[in-house]
Amino acid sequence: MLLKNYKTIFLHELSSLYDDKEIESFFYLIVEKLHGLKRIDLALQPETVIDGVHLKQWKNIVSELKIYKPIQYILGETEFYGLPFLVNENVLIPRPETEELVDLILSNNRITDLPNPLKILDIGTGSGCIPIALKKNLPNAEVYAIDVSEKALVTATKNAELNKAEVHFILKNILQTNDLEQQFDIIVSNPPYVRNLEKAEINPNVLEYEPHLALFVDDNDALLFYRKITELAKKNLNPNGKLYFEINQYLGKETVALIDSFGFKNVRLIKDIYGNDRIISTSL
Ligand SMILES: C[S@@+](CC[C@H](N)C(=O)[O-])C[C@H]1O[C@@H](n2cnc3c(N)ncnc32)[C@H](O)[C@@H]1O
Repeated sequence: MLLKNYKTIFLHELSSLYDDKEIESFFYLIVEKLHGLKRIDLALQPETVIDGVHLKQWKNIVSELKIYKPIQYILGETEFYGLPFLVNENVLIPRPETEELVDLILSNNRITDLPNPLKILDIGTGSGCIPIALKKNLPNAEVYAIDVSEKALVTATKNAELNKAEVHFILKNILQTNDLEQQFDIIVSNPPYVRNLEKAEINPNVLEYEPHLALFVDDNDALLFYRKITELAKKNLNPNGKLYFEINQYLGKETVALIDSFGFKNVRLIKDIYGNDRIISTSL
């Protein structure tokens, strides 16, 4: 069968579950993964045929999409800040909002004439997307990253190798840490921040497949990671050091108040591309 003809079957099979644009984007991601062809290549090679082996693979992928498995987990990879990342069910799929966080850090800290290299720490690193993207763009920086999940760190380490980025990964439970035992110029974190009461608005592909350890916090203490990390940052940031957070869009004011209460300066609440409160930047 011609690949271009199979596209009609693919669209039809998934049409009751996803919108057309999303199905089309799945189609081209799978074409690239299975056939090594970009969208433009397929347009230039309209007679590309699906053989029996590939057809079986397409059918398996369709079955997984039908049970809402995220396409990134099915294909085992995604892109973040223009870089390739391996993903699996032990790590959160990096989000576009987090690319905005990386972008902000880079635009604030492109300083090349510092006497010492910038020392950066990412807390709750998951796939390693934040520290790897930072290291690739600030090659002189010394970059560290913590996670409590050993399995997440296995994937993060593979991603650092894949991207040829030197990142020092540390297995640590941040909630049971009273001192980071090193000083940093920048601490960044996208910690778990979704309350159980927000579960109703979460899509099944996220709820069923992404690690709950990465997502959820107790409704009664939703800012626990922010409190702990701000307390550690107060102790372990160098003078004028900077702290960056991705935050729960519904808790912007509360998170700002928490950070203010620790005496941080220049606390800025920043919206993401969708207009939601999403990032806080501040300095000691
Ligand atoms: C929202 S995910 C962020 C992952 C990644 N930084 C990103 O932006 O895609 C939060 C991460 O925090 C980690 N985490 C959860 N509890 C933790 C703890 N007590 N100490 C350290 N890391 C923790 C999870 O394993 C998860 O990888």
